[in-house]
Amino acid sequence: MAILVTGGAGFIGSHTVVQLLENNQEVIIVDNFYNSSADVLDKIRTIANKDFKFYEYDITCKEQMDEVFRDNDIEAIIHFAGYKAVGESVEKPLMYYSNNLVSTFVLCEMMEKYGCKRFVFSSSATVYGKPASVPIKEDFPLSTTNPYGTTKLMTERILTDIQFAHPDWSIALLRYFNPIGAHKSGLIGENPKDIPNNLMPYILKVASGELECLNVFGDDYDTHDGTGVRDYIHVVDLARGHVLAINKVMNSSGVHIYNLGTGKGYSVLDIVNNFERATGIKIKYKITDRRPGDIDECYADTAKAKEELGFVAEADIDEMCKDGWNFVMHNK
Ligand code: WQD
Repeated sequence: MAILVTGGAGFIGSHTVVQLLENNQEVIIVDNFYNSSADVLDKIRTIANKDFKFYEYDITCKEQMDEVFRDNDIEAIIHFAGYKAVGESVEKPLMYYSNNLVSTFVLCEMMEKYGCKRFVFSSSATVYGKPASVPIKEDFPLSTTNPYGTTKLMTERILTDIQFAHPDWSIALLRYFNPIGAHKSGLIGENPKDIPNNLMPYILKVASGELECLNVFGDDYDTHDGTGVRDYIHVVDLARGHVLAINKVMNSSGVHIYNLGTGKGYSVLDIVNNFERATGIKIKYKITDRRPGDIDECYADTAKAKEELGFVAEADIDEMCKDGWNFVMHNK
């Protein structure tokens, strides 16, 4: 019985596949390399010292996905694949709604046709919008301010409705906070192809000299130093959260919603200072205008994931910074 991992060559997907393989799970990856590269596949094999099946297919293509399900005994799906750039989603909403929603429709149709009943979805803390308070609990109100976030919210609702029609299905909705860091080997990590939207990949490119200066998007937020506060979680901890979620959906039915974060908030300048302390590398920055849509503070209440999954993030910010930089040094 195999676990199908869509987007398994991506940043979070590849780290999750490593841990599934290390746990002796049979894994099938479907990835079209839209936001990843083929060399990650052999790096996963090297780290885990295990093999897996791979299909360079498009998960929105029903014929291709029918072949994958027909030719394999798929017990569960972890669905990472999707477009994820907030700014791009505002410019190209149809591309985001089409890709991110049709992929879920196709997967659920395959589940119905082939009797697969377990689904773990890569959601995001972005579904909380601007929270009325922090830390954020899973039962907080949901609202989104950009098409990317709305595809996550819509997918959660679609999956919830489908599970209601299939009471024996088990679905986990994992709301990530801000994943950073990389596997200790330095072989896999976050490797954006163009100028990064997110803070840590941008800092890493400034540290490597690829970019000249970090733009700090506003210092007038209602936070301890005026810069935006987020909950940064090590990608290896996040991957472990998926392994625990797979165990949960294998032994349950219903819809299970979990925050995957550390429960700690760090500001932009906290991250810059911690990165400089962890690596000894000075990060040049300047304060610029706010980025539209950004919120003041966002960090997780982690109690439910701890109680129901046994999930507790372990890595501290120093480790996240060091491991992220180690990946860059290994891939210069
Ligand atoms: C973090 C902080 C910025 C870049 C988004 C999505 C979320 C997930 C992660 C996909 C904020 C500041 C950033 C920069 C800066 N996406 N910043 N200069 O916006 O919390 O979350 O990415 O999985 O769904 O919403 O992450 O890293 O973009 O920003 O000052 O060059 O860093 O203002 O305060 P964010 P981020």
